[in-house]
Amino acid sequence: MNSPRVHGGGRPAAPGVGIGRAHGKAILLGEHTVVHGTPAIAFPLPALPVRAVAYSGEAGSSTVSPPAVSGRYALSDNGSRFLAGKGLPAATPVSGPRVAVEEALRRWDLPGEVVEVVLHREIPQARGLGSSAADAAAAVRAVADLHGRTVDPDSLYELVQCGEQFAHGRASGVDARAASADGPIWFHAGTARPLEVGLDAALVIADTGIPGATQQAVAEVRGRLDRDRGSAGRLLERATELVESAHAALAAGRAEPLGRALLYFQDLLDELGVGSPRIDTLVTAALEAGAFGAKLTGAGLGGCVLALTEAGRGASTVSAALRGAGAVQTWTVPTRSVLP
Ligand code: PMV
Repeated sequence: MNSPRVHGGGRPAAPGVGIGRAHGKAILLGEHTVVHGTPAIAFPLPALPVRAVAYSGEAGSSTVSPPAVSGRYALSDNGSRFLAGKGLPAATPVSGPRVAVEEALRRWDLPGEVVEVVLHREIPQARGLGSSAADAAAAVRAVADLHGRTVDPDSLYELVQCGEQFAHGRASGVDARAASADGPIWFHAGTARPLEVGLDAALVIADTGIPGATQQAVAEVRGRLDRDRGSAGRLLERATELVESAHAALAAGRAEPLGRALLYFQDLLDELGVGSPRIDTLVTAALEAGAFGAKLTGAGLGGCVLALTEAGRGASTVSAALRGAGAVQTWTVPTRSVLP
């Protein structure tokens, strides 16, 4: 870790602002079962960023600092702000990003510091696209920048996970890894490695318009697996096989078997109780418009559907069909070169 740019009392040498950034993610397959030890594959969504701006705040304050309300960092429509640090009024809201930032201040030996963080999101919240992990990652990076710290990927992961565990009860860590990944990842048991992609295709992501509830969905799945340990073992084995076969198809550039793996994974997620009629409608619309496969992405019970399509015109056709079937927004992500 770099030496701090701070002097005596933990205050920055020159007061200012810190800036941080992270992005959303789409899980190709492996959501939910990844919480129970299977691998998962995720794509970063750099086109859906969160930008965070951190300011030094005042202990005891419950209001925002002036630059946040009046300056160029004024809150955007999908933005929010929070305070973090010791000595805040008891009524100050607690959130995953706040928990992550407070753990960072503790680890960086800045226990007396109070910060205000303003978040500007382009990721829709509660749609299975990893907004809570991206918020926490961007916030930690902004506070690190404010205090002249650098955060290595493993430390960032641990800090974001503190926030995710608070927000979701039990989080696998796939969102925390993908929020700062610069390409598709293979995630397993807390670690991520870059994934080789030999497929020129597209992922069309469609928002059902219905908020998902990650904590509720994760609890629902845990309940089902706990109630029937026999079928739990079978389901988790099947999930691992599907993620592995998707990995092989992605590397070999084979869209049809990858599409089939997505459809089988959707069946499995239905069995786990996190599907919904709106998700089924969008999956059907994507297949009828020529998608190789489609499934929910993220926690489900609403949220988003992800379809694997041909690049170019194929993606546009599926995207239009999804909007025609009720999707409130769609995004198209190439399977290769997700970074700009
Ligand atoms: O819906 P999101 O973006 O919070 O993604 C949740 C992914 C799960 O696999 C359901 C939970 C997890 O911790 O991996």
